[in-house]
Amino acid sequence: MKKNILITGGAGFIGSHVVRLFVNKYPDYQIINLDALTYAGNLENLSDIDSKANYTFIKGDITDLAFVSNLFKNYKFEGVLHLAAESHVDRSISDPLAFIMTNIVGTVNLLNAAKECWANDMNGKKFYHISTDEVYGSLGKTGKFTETTSYDPRSPYSASKASSDHLVRAYFHTYKLPVVLSNCSNNYGANQFPEKLIPLVINNIKNSKSLPIYGKGDNIRDWLFVEDHALAIDSIYHDGKIGETYNIGGDNEWTNLDLVKKLCDIMDKKLNREMGSSQRLITFVKDRAGHDQRYAIDASKIKKELGWKPSIQFEEGFEKTIDWYLQNSDWMNNILSGDYEKFYEQQYTNR
Ligand code: NAD
Ligand code: TYD
Repeated sequence: MKKNILITGGAGFIGSHVVRLFVNKYPDYQIINLDALTYAGNLENLSDIDSKANYTFIKGDITDLAFVSNLFKNYKFEGVLHLAAESHVDRSISDPLAFIMTNIVGTVNLLNAAKECWANDMNGKKFYHISTDEVYGSLGKTGKFTETTSYDPRSPYSASKASSDHLVRAYFHTYKLPVVLSNCSNNYGANQFPEKLIPLVINNIKNSKSLPIYGKGDNIRDWLFVEDHALAIDSIYHDGKIGETYNIGGDNEWTNLDLVKKLCDIMDKKLNREMGSSQRLITFVKDRAGHDQRYAIDASKIKKELGWKPSIQFEEGFEKTIDWYLQNSDWMNNILSGDYEKFYEQQYTNR
């Protein structure tokens, strides 16, 4: 009998990399990808594994408690990897409620359904909550976030993720639900929705459009290649200790301005453009409200306890990422035209 494993948000950026890894690596798992296909969910991200026998896609919304409970009753999941979320800080500033609903209420619905489903036997079960380093707030010039850094979320996005993290830990302490958590830094790679800095900048450079830099561009983020995050998730899901939290990061800090300049230079070379021409597209725009200054992760716990470390360094990661976006212009064009939302209908009505 295959084990049914639920992955939520599997049609999104990170979720799609996790689904692909699990479907290919674990033939004894039946991977159920539950995704509401919001603007950020795109089944084209999974077209290469869509027809595999150990993969099932279900369209559904984690804010719908009755739906979520029934799903657990039908599939009797052995494990849950929870990635579904509203994930963009700028959107959380203009529409916080969507973040409260999906990130908090949706997470509680999953926790409740798992608690009911596993009430008689928690043995071997695992509820893995995937979260962000943004829950820890903002750093000054020095220091790094560790697993014991106090929570200090400052955007509606990070506050909603912090709240969900607290609820996951509350279910561990109160109901003994077997949980594990991770908090990761900024990811980059293939299939990221072009509202986020790196795909937005790559696409704008390609089309010679302006590159918006918020404020002075001196905010710092720690960037991790998405496939390395997926490998860390695999390792935590299988070997992470129940009740524990693991920080995941790339040891790869960049100011936004330096990062964008780096992408400009790589793109000038790849597109045979005059060196420096893309940097002239940089445009400083109004700063994000409450813009966190610096994030940096101390990932020594996962390195020491689980033996994970990033396998791809930034030069290789940025090159791979740029190549992917240049070679997959249909993917980007489908998103920009809205056609990606029709992909699901076509895929499933033709069966
Ligand atoms: P994403 O926005 O690309 O994907 C989110 C997915 O969740 C989409 O497929 C969307 O359709 C789905 N979804 C949204 N609301 C839903 C709902 N109500 N019911 C069911 N599905 C729903 O996000 P991402 O960047 O892949 O992030 C995935 C997870 O990783 C999130 O929990 C995020 O907080 C966390 N995270 C992201 C980063 C990052 O750099 N992107 C870093 C650390 C942690
Ligand atoms: P983003 O990719 O939105 O991730 P997050 O806000 O979760 O870190 O943004 C990364 C950084 O880039 C952040 O400091 C905001 C900045 N940024 C810009 O300067 N211009 C942009 O157009 C975007 C989308 C982000």
